[in-house]
Amino acid sequence: MGSILSRALAALVALGFAASPAAAQTDDYPRRAITLIVPFAAGGPTDVISRIISDYMSRSLGQSIVIENTLGAGGTTASTRAARATPDGYTIEMGHMGTHAASVALYPNLAYKPDVDFAPIGLVAGTPVLILAKKDFPPNDLKAFVTYVKGNVATLNMAHAGVGSVSFTTCLLLNSILGVKPTSVPFNGTGPALTALIAGQVDYMCDQIVNVVQQVQAGQIKGYAIGTPERSPALPNVPTSREAGLPEFQAQAWNALFAPKDTPQPIVDKLTGALDKALDDEQTRKRLLELGSVLPGKAERGQQALAALVRREIDRWTPIIKAANPTD
Ligand code: MLT
Repeated sequence: MGSILSRALAALVALGFAASPAAAQTDDYPRRAITLIVPFAAGGPTDVISRIISDYMSRSLGQSIVIENTLGAGGTTASTRAARATPDGYTIEMGHMGTHAASVALYPNLAYKPDVDFAPIGLVAGTPVLILAKKDFPPNDLKAFVTYVKGNVATLNMAHAGVGSVSFTTCLLLNSILGVKPTSVPFNGTGPALTALIAGQVDYMCDQIVNVVQQVQAGQIKGYAIGTPERSPALPNVPTSREAGLPEFQAQAWNALFAPKDTPQPIVDKLTGALDKALDDEQTRKRLLELGSVLPGKAERGQQALAALVRREIDRWTPIIKAANPTD
C-alpha cells in the first residue's frame, strides 16, 4: 500500500501537480539573511548608499541584509564573486558605473560580462562626479586648475579606487581632456582615498558627490566642478564643468543592484519590489538626497531599465577609455 502511494506521489510530482522544491524556495523567500556584496571599502560612496538602501529593504523583506566589502581590482574582484555566487537570491551585489560598464574596456580578460552574467534588480541612485583637490592645492577655480595641472603634472599624484572604479575612469577622462598623465595612487575605495586627500598626501581626485558633500562644505578639500549639466542642490556653490570652462568633462556615475544570472524570476521580482518601496520611502529618499544622490523616477527603475542602462553605459565608456589609452 505504502509503495503504491509513494509511486502515485512521485508520478504527481513528475507531472508538476505537486509544489516543486524550487517553487517552495521562491514562495517563502527570503528565509534567512541576504549578503550584499559591496565592491569597495567601508565608509566610501558605494558602501554608504548600500547601507542606506539595505536598511529599508531589509525591513520590508523581513530579513537582515549583511554587507560584505569585497575589495580589489577596482571592484571587479567583488563582481566576479557575485557573478559566480549561487543564484538563489541570498547573494546580491551593489554594482556601479565602473564595475558594470567601464571595466569592460579596462579589463580585456574580465571574468564576467556585466550585461550577460547578472539579473538586473534595479537602479538605486545616480551619483554626480566632482573634480576635487587637497585644500592647499594652489588653484582656486577650474581654469586655474587646468593650467596648474598641465604645468606641474610631473610632480602630481592622482588618487583613485583602482582600475575599473568610477574615480579611475572619470579622472582618466579628465586627464585625457587635459593631455596629462600624473602619478596614479590606487586605494581600495574612495573612502580611504578621501582620507589621504584631506591629509594632503595626494593632490587631486575625481569622486562621487555622496562621498564629499560635508568635506567640501567644511573646506577640508576643494571642489572645482561637478560633471553634470546642472549644479547639485547638495553643493549649490560648486559650478558645473560647463560653467567652469571644461564642458567635455561629463561624469555622472550610478549604483545599481544585481543578482547572479539564473536567480529565479520571482526572487528577482521580490528584490525589485523591495528596492522600489525603499526608493519611495520618505526617510530613505531624504538620506540619499542630502548626500547629493539623484533618485531614479519610476521610468528609470526596474529590471529592464537597468539592463538598458548597463548596455548604454558600456557603449558610452568603451570609446572614451580606448581613446584615453589607460595602458600608456
Ligand atoms: C567607492 O565606493 O569607494 C567608490 O565607488 C569607488 C569608485 O568607484 O571610485
